[in-house]
Amino acid sequence: MRTFRIAPSILSADFARLGQEVSDVIAAGADIIHFDVMDNHYVPNLTMGPMFCEAIRPHSSAPIDVHLMVKPVDALAAAFAKAGADIITFHPEGSEHIDRTLGLIKDAGCKAGLVFNPATPLSYLDHVMDKLDMILIMSVNPGFGGQSFIPHALEKIKLARQRIDAYTAKHGGEIWLEVDGGVKVDNIAQVAAAGADTFVAGSAIYGQPDYQAVIAAMRAELAR
Ligand code: DX5
Ligand code: ZN
Repeated sequence: MRTFRIAPSILSADFARLGQEVSDVIAAGADIIHFDVMDNHYVPNLTMGPMFCEAIRPHSSAPIDVHLMVKPVDALAAAFAKAGADIITFHPEGSEHIDRTLGLIKDAGCKAGLVFNPATPLSYLDHVMDKLDMILIMSVNPGFGGQSFIPHALEKIKLARQRIDAYTAKHGGEIWLEVDGGVKVDNIAQVAAAGADTFVAGSAIYGQPDYQAVIAAMRAELAR
């Protein structure tokens, strides 16, 4: 059976109590902290820079998964690696040289991944599978928490799963398949059935008073 990971997005956390929000969600059973970086250029919203990552690092016993929605990518990827990120993903549209950006992230000691917007083709994977630790399929257009899951993302998740399985069967290794946007207790089983193993959830977790109850309900759905 696949290993499933729950990755709460702190985009929906209380920013005035960020350290506590990070440790609370880990105590509630989170596996990964998903950290959304928006630059008011690549996406129409502005969030957190590397200093925030450095500030929450001591509060997180879990890996920090930095999702860069920025253009250009390289300087910020390097800064987040220095600030304690464990995983860094970026959108191919944000990088002039995708292979170089992936190499830069790996050389800095982090896991690297590519992110696909709902209308970004998976053909960007063609020549970089050997450098990937993660593929992130967006199930909303990036920029905001609390949006609805776009159903056609399920088909893309299936295609990404096929690519990963074909590649790892031949070459070994492990590539995680993460899904981000509108994931909730009532659709997580469907997202898993399509092939995802890592689930970002912002509003579904931080929008409820009892984080542990939501994460337990998600795990129960995944175990069905
Ligand atoms: C959207 C971000 C997501 C967002 C998800 O651009 O990348 O990580 O926080 O939020 P929900 O789970 O509320 O859709
Ligand atoms: Zn995200």
